[in-house]
Amino acid sequence: MTRKRQAQPSLLGISVGRSGWYHLSRFLRRSLTLLGIGGIFTLFILSCQPVTTAQQQPTPTPQTQPAPTETPEGGLSASPAELPPLPYSYDALEPYIDAETMELHHDRHHATYVDNLNEALADYPNLQNQTVEAMLRDLDAVPEEIREDVRNNGGGHVNHTLFWQIMSPEGGGEPTGALAEAINQTFGSFAEFQEAFEEEGADRFGSGWVWLVLNDANELEITSTPNQDPPIMEGDYPIMGNDVWEHAYYLSYRNQRGEYLSNWWNVANWEEINRRYEQGQGS
Ligand SMILES: [Fe+2]
Repeated sequence: MTRKRQAQPSLLGISVGRSGWYHLSRFLRRSLTLLGIGGIFTLFILSCQPVTTAQQQPTPTPQTQPAPTETPEGGLSASPAELPPLPYSYDALEPYIDAETMELHHDRHHATYVDNLNEALADYPNLQNQTVEAMLRDLDAVPEEIREDVRNNGGGHVNHTLFWQIMSPEGGGEPTGALAEAINQTFGSFAEFQEAFEEEGADRFGSGWVWLVLNDANELEITSTPNQDPPIMEGDYPIMGNDVWEHAYYLSYRNQRGEYLSNWWNVANWEEINRRYEQGQGS
């Protein structure tokens, strides 16, 4: 009697025998068990990582990188215009300028000028290829329908960009070198210059700026401009300027603009102002 041979299990057509199947299945079970343990361990490690949500994002810290500067260093881009970071913390200029004023001034007022300028230029790609300063020097070349927007918001952008740079937590003191000499020669002394600068700022009716500029004759002159008009619109080069809009001082000084103007010297960054004077003479 012929004994019927039982078919042997096969893998991919290769006979592996009972013993082979036993070892293979045991190997597969162990592998799956190890994979399961590894997956659980990975999930555990991931669950230990800090969860990042919008609420847990750290408060942005003002950057210390150099901001773009007004002429003659190159000019501000309009493709698009960008808000430069404040080169110090909001409270760095206290007690002379409070942190809330600085935050609102930079993050809201200056930011709004930048946003509005970009909005005005959105349909004018040819203008976006120019610097903001170039547009302000030749406003007649700007289409009439956006001319006032470019004047006010472009002016606000260049004026405030300069303003943040000419202030410093290590400010105060007096100018040095060539600027100190020129101030003494033009105004008699630093104290007389300060007095005249403060008076010009106090007398500026409504909102505007008080400036120390290099005029057409390359001489120092104290001027003031209304609203956000920058000195370059008149062909003057701004060495330094103080913002006498109420948004610059009202929270701390209320309506006492004169007090703000006299305190402001404590944050004047003479290193940067000296540099601007020397660079402006070559413009
Ligand atoms: Fe301002």
